[in-house]
Amino acid sequence: MQLEDLAGIDEIEKEALEHLEKTIIYFKGRPVGTVAALDGSVDALNYDQCFVRDFVSSALFFLIKGETEIVRNFLEETLKLQPKNNQLDAYKPGQGLMPASFKVVSKNGEEYLEADFGEHAIARVTPVDSCLWWLIILRAYVVATKDYSLVYQPEFQKGIDLILELCLATRFDMYPTLLVPDGACMIDRRLGIYGHPLEIQSLFYAALRAAREMLICHGNQDWVIAIDNRLPILRAHIRKHYWIDLKRLNAIYRYKGEEYGKEAVNEFNVYVDSLPYNEIAKWLPKKGGYLAGNVGPSQMDTRFFSLGNLMAIICDLASEEQSEAIMNLVEKRWEDLVGDMPMKITFPALENEEYKIITGCDPKNIAWSYHNGGNWPVLMWMLAAASIKTNKICIAERAIHIAQSRLQEDEWPEYYDGKRGRFIGKQSRKYQTWTITGLLLAKEMIKEPSHLSLLNFEPFTPESDSRACEFEIDSFDA
Ligand code: GLC
Repeated sequence: MQLEDLAGIDEIEKEALEHLEKTIIYFKGRPVGTVAALDGSVDALNYDQCFVRDFVSSALFFLIKGETEIVRNFLEETLKLQPKNNQLDAYKPGQGLMPASFKVVSKNGEEYLEADFGEHAIARVTPVDSCLWWLIILRAYVVATKDYSLVYQPEFQKGIDLILELCLATRFDMYPTLLVPDGACMIDRRLGIYGHPLEIQSLFYAALRAAREMLICHGNQDWVIAIDNRLPILRAHIRKHYWIDLKRLNAIYRYKGEEYGKEAVNEFNVYVDSLPYNEIAKWLPKKGGYLAGNVGPSQMDTRFFSLGNLMAIICDLASEEQSEAIMNLVEKRWEDLVGDMPMKITFPALENEEYKIITGCDPKNIAWSYHNGGNWPVLMWMLAAASIKTNKICIAERAIHIAQSRLQEDEWPEYYDGKRGRFIGKQSRKYQTWTITGLLLAKEMIKEPSHLSLLNFEPFTPESDSRACEFEIDSFDA
């Protein structure tokens, strides 16, 4: 595996690249992923495995560097781990799921990959985000390599098909959003995000758009119709019901409750007193806004979640005005959302009784630590991508400057604690791979903003996509 010539890059990048080399996992002699962390000072637990979500920043970085083989191998091997049959066994992973992580096991001189779908993870959490990220990485691979032959293979078409079935077929609720359990994404511990969390919805939107581009239309008309139906209503739902700015907060403040039928204004019957509206009104700048963390029956989680908001900007789920308002909020509330380490995973933290009830007294998720208001350097690449998308590159430059001054000296921690992210996290791993690639990727994106195309989509119109579909059939048949 050859990363670029180390000449011409700064000392920090050089060290980061050297570490990244060491994190690569080989299976039968081929590179297939990167471990989550290489911290020799603590028990590895499952950090010696390749997590699908953690590999995203590695994959994008490798693609940018022309190291496409590892990404292709990763996609092929994880596809083999995806359950292809409905096993009708509550203890077995459902058809179409992608694992949270995998590792190489050697037995009797033979190597094989062992997947974890959450059954070994703390609290047995379901990795819903894995299959969504997998589609996003697959599409980025195609954008980078122009190699459609990989996705047109029947196994890949089948893999896409199974993920779509998992997300779009039979279900209980009638929202355009995806209903998921708590801890189903990067926040893989109980944090009150069950229901329709923003992070999953942003990834769902991007994954559907990716699938729409890669699915051979011929024979998949039902999926194409299902995606074309779902995308606009999902987008409209998020833009309308998740949006919070001063104007909308005022509308919510004047909501009536218990409205019945189609004419209801307060469609989800959110009781105003359940929201800290005075605090939010004080915190929101006049030109700022953000997408709420979750919207469901009598529920509006007003916490700011970075991953969901940034990915909504990157993949065009948020409107142009909303994207600008979100970035404006980041600038105006810099101390709260970025502070001394880009960037906070969620704001504000749950404290006191709320912390106890919502996290179940999780000692790792005390206020302003870990998922509950900790700062995660990996989020920097998304901040960089969102900055490019909104023409505010100075935000990314400022964030990179802050991070660079600490990450190397602190030995690349997984996360930071405290209101401003001043402390290395209480139980933070060192030499965390996505911290390393988070910085490397952010820097690459700023150097060459056109790399955003790996994740970016053209504004969606069903007409333009159905034309693409006809073309696809032609080119495929030829
Ligand atoms: C923690 C994080 C999770 C990540 C894993 C490996 O469990 O919460 O998002 O995938 O560590 O780094």
